[in-house]
Amino acid sequence: MNRPKGTKDIYGKEQAIRSYIFDILKSVSQVYNFKKIETPIFESKEVFVRSVGETSDIVTKEMYVFKDKGDREMVLRPEGTAGTIRAIVENKLYTKLPLKVFYEGPMFRYENPQKGRQRQFTQFGVEMIGERNPFADIEVILMASLILKELKIPYLLKINSLGDKETRVNYSKALREYFRPFESELTQDSINRLDKNPLRILDDKVDSQKDFVKNAPRINAYYSEEIKTYFDTVISYLKESDVNFEIDTTLVRGLDYYTDTAFEFVSISGEAGSQSTLIGGGRYQNLVKEFGGPDLSGIGFGLGVERLMNELANIEEEEITEAPHIFVLNIADTKQKETMKLVEMFRANGFITEWNPKATKLIKAFDKADESGAHVLVIAGEKELANGEVTIKMHGKQHTVKIADAVETIDAHLASHEGGHHEEH
Ligand code: HAM
Repeated sequence: MNRPKGTKDIYGKEQAIRSYIFDILKSVSQVYNFKKIETPIFESKEVFVRSVGETSDIVTKEMYVFKDKGDREMVLRPEGTAGTIRAIVENKLYTKLPLKVFYEGPMFRYENPQKGRQRQFTQFGVEMIGERNPFADIEVILMASLILKELKIPYLLKINSLGDKETRVNYSKALREYFRPFESELTQDSINRLDKNPLRILDDKVDSQKDFVKNAPRINAYYSEEIKTYFDTVISYLKESDVNFEIDTTLVRGLDYYTDTAFEFVSISGEAGSQSTLIGGGRYQNLVKEFGGPDLSGIGFGLGVERLMNELANIEEEEITEAPHIFVLNIADTKQKETMKLVEMFRANGFITEWNPKATKLIKAFDKADESGAHVLVIAGEKELANGEVTIKMHGKQHTVKIADAVETIDAHLASHEGGHHEEH
């Protein structure tokens, strides 16, 4: 039996890279003071149709839809924003604003699998609700850029403003007029979008490559003064920061809920293949209201954890995983309980501790200890244990010490030799 197409089993080095990424996501969320939210992996279909948009690829082609036994139409969530906003409105989480939440977990899209594009993938995302302000946009963008900076992933931020409702109405009208004469050259998808959402023609996988699409009118000609000033404020701050960015007036994003600032962090490492967008996000002015909540603006981003994993595929495992501090060589056949207690003593003191659970000859135990990469070896020999002692081997030197002094001896050693490796003690 095999795993379904477009899914992954994740173990070994990939899992090490993944937990390294999650550690950084956690620490960045903490410094930006975002709190975790968990929502169901399936939601009723309406949650996504209304928000992500009836004409979007996600809703028209990519959703895993199923009927439950009560004949309700359910969807495995294709993204995190819609469910999060549904939860915020349903639980009235908007009493203290801005509300800052993050989430992580599996998302599902029925796409053609390729490198960086799966049917089940993992998203980490954040949403900040209740603040329409250029500096809130900047805060969220800086948070996303800090994640890539901490992971040492080179990127380019592409940023655009989609304006407000009025911008979209006027711009959509202009695009419709512009595209009409080219209708026979458009894909069927784009023809279907011409009336409902012509902006999406600009990021259609096929049509976006055509010259007449590249030469289509640009959205920035349709901004109001307010939108222009707002977006200029965002850009002028980015210019003073170390964020590597460019304005891309063709960027529209694949989900319909965006207004104002929209952005994508794309890979420039050459590791990504054709799926180079690492992080996508933007502001949504109407989503909370559309879910029946108050008139609150939101902004957020989502990132594909597996896409970040691809970027880090060549990292040395030793750089991101911690080897055991201690390996206890279990060699005393008649003293298994004493050896086990020793192992547990080290663990209770916070040392990453490994051992060979079945007593073996010294030479075999040494092999195991070597294989583990442990910094310190603790030899639990018959004679030593009988005297309430162990032999500690570190940096080529051996010391026999009382068991009661072992933790302190190892602590002192690790602190001086491993650059404060075990500093919490
Ligand atoms: P999105 O651009 O559809 O936005 O997805 C965000 C990120 O999820 C992408 O940049 C990519 O890294 C990852 N991703 C998407 N589809 C796949 C796939 N099939 N396989 C692997 N990775 C994938 C959203 O989902 C919005 N909810 C983001 C957002 C949050 N906007 C505001 N708040």
